Amino acid sequence: MEITLGDLDPGAELAELRAALLERPRRIPSRYFYDRRGSELFEAITELPEYYPTRAETALLEAHADEIARATGAEELVELGSGAASKTRILLDALARAGNLRTYVPLDVSEAMVRRSAEELAAAYPELTVHGLVADFHHHLDHIPPGEPRLVIFLGSTIGNLRPAEAVAFLRGIAAPMAPGDFFLLGVDLVKETAVIEAAYNDAAGLTAEFNRNILRVVNRLAGGDFEPDRFAHRAFFDPANRWIEMRLVARGAQTVRLPKLDLTLELADGEELLTEISCKYERRQVERMLARGGFSLDRWFTDDERLFGLALARHDASRPEGGSWHQGTI
Ligand code: AVJ
Repeated sequence: MEITLGDLDPGAELAELRAALLERPRRIPSRYFYDRRGSELFEAITELPEYYPTRAETALLEAHADEIARATGAEELVELGSGAASKTRILLDALARAGNLRTYVPLDVSEAMVRRSAEELAAAYPELTVHGLVADFHHHLDHIPPGEPRLVIFLGSTIGNLRPAEAVAFLRGIAAPMAPGDFFLLGVDLVKETAVIEAAYNDAAGLTAEFNRNILRVVNRLAGGDFEPDRFAHRAFFDPANRWIEMRLVARGAQTVRLPKLDLTLELADGEELLTEISCKYERRQVERMLARGGFSLDRWFTDDERLFGLALARHDASRPEGGSWHQGTI
């Protein structure tokens, strides 16, 4: 087992955070949710009765992993945003059954997450070469060790945190270093009845509210800040025009927040909202178009009877060098 550390740049991160806090509405990038506590809260969220995506995606993987393994013939499984890697085993088992599996590459910005998945899976699959990469998948895909054909997976509808134009740019970044026989598997949450979506982000137990407020603790640590999480209310709603969930933190009372490492003091008005997350919901044709603009062609589409979640298996489209760069613009 090997772990490679990409050259993450903490200075650039702080600058990005500062700029986001100065936008209107003020914003905190969603990746700051995932410190140790945030990752634990997210894992607990995935088990809530209201949070359907993880269960729906797991069921789809269980139903179709063998077909995916046969269709791709993959030797190397590359997992972007590997997180807790629990769904990975379903695919690894199927790839092992198909007989070609050699290498697993978990890639995440969190070194702790990469170590955890790498160690766990190296222990569970003694034959497997595990090469963890601590990297930001926006920039470091070129560090992925060779192994063809590859299956690159990005599960959990994490792509939904990106605005459509950002998602296309992200897909192009994935497509660029891929070889013609490589595949990409993308998990996406689907548009459905608003009440069902909103309930998933407003659970009765209040875990999502805790998860949302925890981002302020992460920012405090990074920026030497004095956000008081208890003075913010959780708000999540579906925006039908953009077809995304928006999560916000609402200031309870006017407050001053000092963030010395960002050289920033925020004067928040009573009721002022900080945007912490968007989570896009998709329809099949939109996923197909987004993939095409990113340099992939949709090969197979899997969904459940209730149309809760979708799994898109796509091929790197060799007829579009560098991810079809003639298709500039947003969707
Ligand atoms: C991990 C980004 C897919 O958007 O549903 C869960 C994160 N936020 N509850 C999602 C999340 C609130 C999750 N993703």
